[in-house]
Amino acid sequence: MRRPFIAGNWKMNLNQSESAELASGVASAVGDLTGAVDVAVCPPTVYLAAVRSALGDSAVGLGAQNAYHEESGAFTGETSVGMLADIGCQYVILGHSERRNILGESNEDVNKKVHAVLAGGLIPIVCVGELLEQREAGQTLAVIKEQFQGSLAGLTADDVAKLVIAYEPVWAIGTGKVATPEQAEEVHADLRRLLETSYNSDVAAAVRIQYGGSVKPTNAAELLSQPNIDGALVGGASLKPDSFQGIVAAAAELASSN
Ligand code: PGA
Repeated sequence: MRRPFIAGNWKMNLNQSESAELASGVASAVGDLTGAVDVAVCPPTVYLAAVRSALGDSAVGLGAQNAYHEESGAFTGETSVGMLADIGCQYVILGHSERRNILGESNEDVNKKVHAVLAGGLIPIVCVGELLEQREAGQTLAVIKEQFQGSLAGLTADDVAKLVIAYEPVWAIGTGKVATPEQAEEVHADLRRLLETSYNSDVAAAVRIQYGGSVKPTNAAELLSQPNIDGALVGGASLKPDSFQGIVAAAAELASSN
């Protein structure tokens, strides 16, 4: 069985002291659960260092919300993978729909970043997801396949085995409108098939596929109990230790009953 992985995407929220306070709150709230579940928090870039020190020696991992694909140089405003590794990050969220749709990131941009993050020894969390109009037009699986293939182009099976995929239907992000477990599982199972046909069955069995989009303590268990849902990428509900802990606890409970 794949070890569940719950990551909190704090997006562009909180100030420095609130970030440190949330990190230590999360570390103490989920401390007993990290034996069964991988947990990470992804604060804004400027607060990564504050959060790293607030996490102390807790098993909660640290992730960034973006990275640039070049190693160093004249790239004003960007952050390299080396810098993120230096500050203690283990994960980098890439291709989040807000970056694709608001900041104009293409599959090609995401692909360069995925290569750079893997080359830097960190774990990419690669996001894919369809817009509401694409779902309504019956294009969901085609959109997911195009993002999957474009974002992972040129990677070896060994590379792909190291990464995490997050399926986040855009219409479910921050809207309170969660995908039903069946809707989510359909796409997760399709992603699993894509991993198998594009790489091999070991890769398909190993890669964790998170669901994201209005995950809360009240809906986490039914989503996470789907066979191909291996964790969650949590936005709004990751901003409070209690609600984030509720999601991690649901994952821990399922892991222990399997
Ligand atoms: P949400 O965000 O949980 O607030 O819907 C999820 C995400 O965008 O990663």
